[in-house]
Amino acid sequence: MIFDTHAHYDDKQFDTDREELLERMEAEGIGAIVNAGSTIESWDKIKVLTERYPFVYGSVGVHPDEVGTLSEEALQKMAALLDCEKIVAVGEIGLDYYWDKEAHDLQKKWFIRQLELAGEKGMPVIIHSREAAADTMEIMQRHARGIRGVIHCYSYSPEMAREYVKMGYYIGVGGVVTFKNGRKLKETVKEIPLESIVLETDCPYLAPEPFRGKRNASLYLPYVAKEIAAIKEITYEEVIQQTEINARKLYNLSKGD
Ligand code: NI
Repeated sequence: MIFDTHAHYDDKQFDTDREELLERMEAEGIGAIVNAGSTIESWDKIKVLTERYPFVYGSVGVHPDEVGTLSEEALQKMAALLDCEKIVAVGEIGLDYYWDKEAHDLQKKWFIRQLELAGEKGMPVIIHSREAAADTMEIMQRHARGIRGVIHCYSYSPEMAREYVKMGYYIGVGGVVTFKNGRKLKETVKEIPLESIVLETDCPYLAPEPFRGKRNASLYLPYVAKEIAAIKEITYEEVIQQTEINARKLYNLSKGD
């Protein structure tokens, strides 16, 4: 079965057909989805989705673009939600110097605080990092010792991916790998072991070819898996099977969960 390690079904782009869409997933081979948190408002919506659909899990965290809304009080709420059975990770957290919506110092402060919370709770992290390669690596090396997780929507060099793999991190691969200008990610996929790759959509964003620019959904993950299989010269089934095993290890979920 296909495991989508990063989706945002709480997004308003799904308001018109969320139920209809999620009800089709299992029949279409999508066996598990982790709905990633990005804002404080997203957390409750995610919890409801995890209660409603057996195959939906959640994570809670605040995206670097949104850390201006964070407070110690909000962090306490986050800590309480992390005790819920189907909340399986802290994320997405990190640094974003591309949109650059919050001061770098503030982004770093809350990135570190959320990493520390994951460490205290013994939970994996979902890392978002855009145009902040050096600062992200520095913080990870200093504050993420002993924490496991995924570098979601990986966009840096193959060399840096190997470094994260050595640290025990998974590399999240989504629609970008099918893009004509996705050469760097294709190289990364070629260079790192399949055992370190997880599938993700980041839906509603980043739909793979031939749907680029449209609303993304987990149903399009076969296009991503096919591209990975072609790059690594292995079968589609191998990609699906191994990435599911990887995703379950990442989020500490066993087969029957
Ligand atoms: Ni995301």
